[in-house]
Amino acid sequence: MYKIIGTGSYLPSNCLSNEDLSKFVDTSDSWITDRTGIKQRYFVKDELTSDLAVKAGLAALENANLTAEDLDLIIIATTTPDLTFPSTASIVQRKIGAVNAACFDVQAVCSGFIYGLSIAEGFFATKKVKNALIIGAESLSKLLDFEDRTTCVLFGDGAGAAVLTEKTPEDTSGLIRTSISTKGEFTDLLKTDGGPGLSQSAGVVHMQGQEVFRHAVSNLKKVCLDLLAKEGMEKSDIDFLIPHQANKRIIDSTAKALSLTPEKVIVTVDKHANTSAASIPLALDWANKQGKFKKGDILLLEAFGAGFTFGGALIKW
Ligand code: UT7
Repeated sequence: MYKIIGTGSYLPSNCLSNEDLSKFVDTSDSWITDRTGIKQRYFVKDELTSDLAVKAGLAALENANLTAEDLDLIIIATTTPDLTFPSTASIVQRKIGAVNAACFDVQAVCSGFIYGLSIAEGFFATKKVKNALIIGAESLSKLLDFEDRTTCVLFGDGAGAAVLTEKTPEDTSGLIRTSISTKGEFTDLLKTDGGPGLSQSAGVVHMQGQEVFRHAVSNLKKVCLDLLAKEGMEKSDIDFLIPHQANKRIIDSTAKALSLTPEKVIVTVDKHANTSAASIPLALDWANKQGKFKKGDILLLEAFGAGFTFGGALIKW
């Protein structure tokens, strides 16, 4: 199995506060802050998702003391690929020179990074890879209707990455368990209105916010409790919750269900907004760089997004 040996992230330079948005959308800092916890977000100008992914990926490789040529696998979780094909992972391979890596994208929207961690499990279990790079990267701003205040204030762009390496028999750190699920009956509650099957544009985001909120809260609680139960672990075993950063109220509700005090919950939604598949690795790297984790800490990662897709990962740091 694998352990995480490096993290990295990248945010575009164009930072917009809630105040900035309120100059061209009918919204306010107080509404966005009270309902979501978001204070600012970053939007790309000229960069593509692959550019964000390259910067986060290289930072993670540096943190892990590996080179691009050491990689056997690159998985990019994204719902905003540069092109319909080839995969953004193939483009990233070319840009960083990871010539030995098999590369593909995962499209599980906000749960994509967790899906990536879960898929990687199989590659390590069957000893097909020694080193993998899992990146969550998004340019969500390209799917936003800036006249729809119910969605455009919620999202941001960015990328986060983790380098995974095969555990040695002596390693006590590493992945404990992942869980991934989908409830396709709810695809209409959160979706774009475009894409290759429908039109020549990718469309824009539409969301029935309250319904999505309700499903997020109940499914995330279940995912987290099920993961603990399957490992015979208690809520008190969790050292840090690293949740998908969609809404501070959803994060608080999961933290409450797990009886976690605020110091144990990594919150970056105020700084990054909802960056979909990038949100967990961005939060992971932020907390790692803050020196929050110590060897042996138990991390619980969880995500919920369009699809509905959801899942979690228990990791010993
Ligand atoms: O990452 C994928 C998963 N996504 C999520 O988890 C998102 C889940 N949903 C949510 O986070 C919340 O439902 C939202 C933050 C999207 C919305 O919060 P809410 O408390 O559910 O608000 P609401 O949709 O019920 O809207 C309340 C009011 C409405 O006005 P009326 O009808 O009460 O007069 C909206 O028109 O707030 C209004 N409103 C806004 N006002 C100012 C909606 N958006 C805005 C806005 N600024 N940006």
